[in-house]
Amino acid sequence: MQDRDLLEAETREVGHRVREQLARQDSTPVATRAAPVLYEKWCSNCHGRNGEGAQQGQVHFPRLTGVGAKPQRNVDDIVGLLKNPEAYGLQPPMRSFSEKLTEPQMREIAEWVHRLR
Ligand code: HEC
Repeated sequence: MQDRDLLEAETREVGHRVREQLARQDSTPVATRAAPVLYEKWCSNCHGRNGEGAQQGQVHFPRLTGVGAKPQRNVDDIVGLLKNPEAYGLQPPMRSFSEKLTEPQMREIAEWVHRLR
């Protein structure tokens, strides 16, 4: 093979790999990228870094691992309760995040929380 042919073949190979990698990245749902950061900032204080929950005196912060398996806790429900916890029978200190988070952010967090195991 000529040097030039070799170079072209290598260039094609690298291009192929880069395209493959980009395709993989594109298929990564947005939720898996931003959600952990949002969760850490807005939820982890009460529900624990990994969603393990906590108890502080009289106040019980439920664990969120496995929460998606409960009734009324699909992704839409979690978005709904982040807007209006009372509508889901949740009491303070769980509160509405309507003023703090955008709809897409709430959905990202909800999709992520729903998958916690
Ligand atoms: C200030 C503390 C606090 C923060 C911050 C907080 N929560 Fe909560 N959360 C609670 C408490 C307490 C409950 C239980 C309320 C009840 O049972 O009445 C709860 C309940 C929940 C539930 C229902 C759990 C179940 O077992 O059904 C979900 C889901 C939830 N929170 C998600 C979140 C998410 C997502 C965030 C971040 C955007 C968040 N919470 C932020 C305190 C908090």
